[in-house]
Amino acid sequence: MSLSSIAIEPLSYREALGHYASGITVITSFIDGEPIGFTCQSFYSVSMDPPLVSFSVMASSACYPKIRKAGRFLVNILSAEQVHISNRFSLRGTDKWRGVEWEESPLGNPIIAGSLHWLDCEIYAVHPVGDHLIVIGEVKALNLQATTVTQPLLYFKGQYRNLGAHSEA
Ligand SMILES: Cc1cc2nc3c(=O)[nH]c(=O)nc-3n(C[C@H](O)[C@H](O)[C@H](O)COP(=O)(O)O)c2cc1C
Repeated sequence: MSLSSIAIEPLSYREALGHYASGITVITSFIDGEPIGFTCQSFYSVSMDPPLVSFSVMASSACYPKIRKAGRFLVNILSAEQVHISNRFSLRGTDKWRGVEWEESPLGNPIIAGSLHWLDCEIYAVHPVGDHLIVIGEVKALNLQATTVTQPLLYFKGQYRNLGAHSEA
């Protein structure tokens, strides 16, 4: 049997991917008088010049068509104190914004209070791939103010983690 014909079982696939540690973001936008957002691990930087970033979103996402319509989004990089925000924005069919403090970004997207950092983007390109869409955004503004929060929220093997100093640092 050639390697390419081995079926990839979904649970094993998820478990394998869980070994890749990352930060967590909430992608937000604003359209028709309504803030929208979802928890997103698949954020990454794409290009320096022009400054491009990307995330992938499930084709069935309720948020995505609204983000597409707005033509812009904001990446909230979550801080260690925002586990509740990550949990809230990963739930479908709930009022994600109840009790959540936010302010408007230069492009008109919601900046969630207490985030570690943020990037304000215009949609640059969208590529449907498999059951997801790869969304690429051009960064038009970012946080220039010193924040009081310093620690990121991390995710590894299906659990939230904290940053620890490396013993060889
Ligand atoms: C830690 C974590 C990371 C996630 N990363 C992604 C992601 O990268 N892309 C995605 O489409 N959904 C991701 N999700 C799932 C969405 O947050 C979830 O499906 C959300 O309910 C979608 O909301 P919507 O249907 O209102 O758009 C993640 C969930 C969690 C808990």
